[in-house]
Amino acid sequence: ADLSAGEDVFTNNCAACHTGGANVVQAEKTLQKDALVAYLDGRFNVDAIVKQVTNGKNAMPAWAGRLSEDEIQDVAAYVYDQASGDKW
Ligand code: HEM
Repeated sequence: ADLSAGEDVFTNNCAACHTGGANVVQAEKTLQKDALVAYLDGRFNVDAIVKQVTNGKNAMPAWAGRLSEDEIQDVAAYVYDQASGDKW
């Protein structure tokens, strides 16, 4: 996966709700590692992020059909890298 491309996908599609790794819709469901561990099916890995982005969840829209599979892989890798490295 391409982290630089993933950062661009994030800026263009995700930052409206998740700027800086936050969540403006549902405040506790941030993109920080502790929140992902708690809320993302109890799993903290790239595949769990890919699944959430592809299918959406509750108030988060699905991106299947709006982003390519490569774009989804790249943005998930970017989010995972940010969270696992405490970069948000
Ligand atoms: C949750 C990623 C776009 C609204 C999440 C989570 C991830 C994520 C990984 C899980 C966070 C957690 O459970 O702590 C992304 C990515 C996006 C994107 C990579 C772009 C492709 C958006 C947009 C919105 C949004 C544009 C608002 C319109 C939400 C909401 C949740 C959420 C409301 C909580 C869902 C729930 O569990 O009820 N997002 N998101 N997301 N996102 Fe996004």
